[in-house]
Amino acid sequence: MSIKKIIAFGSAKGGVGKSSITASIALSLSKHSSVGILDADIYGPNQHILFDINVKPIIDKKSINPIDKCNIKFISMGNLLDDDKAAIWRGPMLSAAIKQLINSTNWGDLDYLLIDMPPGTGDAYLTIFNELKVDEFILVTNLNKLALSDLKKTVSMLKKLNINILGYINNNIFNTEIITEDEYFKLNNIKLLGTFLFDNKIHEFDLDYDSEISNSISDKIVSMT
Ligand SMILES: Nc1ncnc2c1ncn2[C@@H]1O[C@H](COP(=O)(O)OP(=O)(O)OP(=O)(O)O)[C@@H](O)[C@H]1O
Ligand SMILES: [Mg+2]
Repeated sequence: MSIKKIIAFGSAKGGVGKSSITASIALSLSKHSSVGILDADIYGPNQHILFDINVKPIIDKKSINPIDKCNIKFISMGNLLDDDKAAIWRGPMLSAAIKQLINSTNWGDLDYLLIDMPPGTGDAYLTIFNELKVDEFILVTNLNKLALSDLKKTVSMLKKLNINILGYINNNIFNTEIITEDEYFKLNNIKLLGTFLFDNKIHEFDLDYDSEISNSISDKIVSMT
């Protein structure tokens, strides 16, 4: 088993498009690379819904075998537990569940493992960074002041943990006019990888959608990693 690059997609703010964008980039990358998605949102897994996966992974004595769909390998708590089971887990149970997903999954050989991070900056983040060597972190955000305020917490945590930030994706779902590139990104030397606008095919998550912006970001990821 070998994974060439592990790339986490996240930001502390909820609902900014982390899961949708991770999924869209995975579809683009999977055209020429072997890709897996670890859905690390234990309380609110979504990847199995986006990819319409209703089966459970096959678990043998030693490992969990990811589910194949659209040429991508998936592991999500959404396929392991009934929807409401994890909802009331405390931190240690959450960490144990993430550890198990990380350490027991038989990914085979992957070029890219993408991690769909949960909102927040808590236990899930610390567990993932302890258990896995995350090569790059991609911030997904819009440029609203509330989203940016939360994003700054993510950036300061990533800096403390020495996690490399590859850049940010502006998921401009409100189609607001962007007058200038936000100073904050410049000051922190965080590059813009691309901008999504509100797109109904992302909203409905059309699995056959060949998104130009997603393709262009995935090409950048390949060239930068
Ligand atoms: N570019 C886009 N165009 C249209 N709709 C979008 C776009 N990006 C995200 N959405 C929609 O916004 C909502 C939130 O997206 P998503 O669940 O991917 O965010 P999230 O950051 O992963 O949320 P959470 O913090 O709960 O994990 C969803 O309804 C999704 O369909
Ligand atoms: Mg999500």
